[in-house]
Amino acid sequence: MTQNPFITLNNNIQMPALGFGVFRSSPEETTGAVSTAIITGYRHIDTAAAYMNEVQVGEAIKASDVARSDIFVTTKMWISDYGYDSGLHAIDRSLRKLDTDYIDLYLLHQPVPTYFDRTIEAYKAAEAALADGRVRAIGVSNFNTQYLENLMAQTDIVPAVNQVEVHPFFTQKPLRDTHAKYGIATQAWSPIGGVNRYGNFTTEAVEDPLTHPTIVQLAEKYSKTPAQVILRWHIQNGICAIPKSVNPGRIAENFNIFDFELTRDEVEAIEALDTGVRGGPDPDSVSPDTYTFKIED
Ligand SMILES: NC(=O)c1ccc[n+]([C@@H]2O[C@H](COP(=O)([O-])OP(=O)(O)OC[C@H]3O[C@@H](n4cnc5c(N)ncnc54)[C@H](OP(=O)(O)O)[C@@H]3O)[C@@H](O)[C@H]2O)c1
Repeated sequence: MTQNPFITLNNNIQMPALGFGVFRSSPEETTGAVSTAIITGYRHIDTAAAYMNEVQVGEAIKASDVARSDIFVTTKMWISDYGYDSGLHAIDRSLRKLDTDYIDLYLLHQPVPTYFDRTIEAYKAAEAALADGRVRAIGVSNFNTQYLENLMAQTDIVPAVNQVEVHPFFTQKPLRDTHAKYGIATQAWSPIGGVNRYGNFTTEAVEDPLTHPTIVQLAEKYSKTPAQVILRWHIQNGICAIPKSVNPGRIAENFNIFDFELTRDEVEAIEALDTGVRGGPDPDSVSPDTYTFKIED
């Protein structure tokens, strides 16, 4: 694997396996970061209505020399928009902010256990947008097996993607097995363990996978960095990874992973670092009471 491979989604849409995230990138930082990413070679950008930077993502794509059709753009519906009509409105709002005719991948950002019926209605709005071409693939984020199965029992389209926390300290193997069973692609947020550095959602989260001796030793062996070793592990596992950076050096570093290969034993050694402890919020805890903000038109 000497270049960024594509993952074929369950409706045959091709998604670049290594993408670029912009969570916690301020609007001021986002245009430059996305422009640098596109020049570097990234062709997959992950944003969300809740990141408040869809406008800047759209501007950077428009200003680039790369055709819109060659860039895979993901955005997400925030929970304050859940429901059918409000969901359709949210999709149109994201299209307008991104200044694009279509979204490549549209995700529900979170399951909301306390009003799962509205979560279902929101997904049906995404299904409608898929049917009329406003989006090319639909999926979810932060769903566990139970929520996925509940959703699939009440809707028509199997999610193409579930975007969840995955890194060497939280590998989510049982959930990845669920995805494999249903033909859902696994997309890793915080792929290099960012949430364990910037987050304080759980006191149990173990520190930084970038400093773990297993990772550091592999980095030394291949003359790569710890982040490059971890990103390579994702891609060799068939996991889509969307590392975030606003630093040009790290943006380039995170893309430079297609000139070495981990052995099967090394991939398994990284898998074995799993602690079972997530760094991010428990999906069961997400509700309009915990996140009170709304997305402005
Ligand atoms: N669906 C969801 O609920 C959800 C939740 C979280 C994230 N996401 C998505 O996933 C993307 C990535 O996740 P994330 O931002 O949480 O974590 P991440 O990509 O694992 O880590 C990002 C953090 O690590 C730093 N960093 C980047 N490259 C580095 C390198 N090579 N060496 C050392 N540090 C490095 C970044 O700082 P600098 O910017 O200063 O380089 C940033 O603080 C997000 O941007 C977003 O698109 C989705």
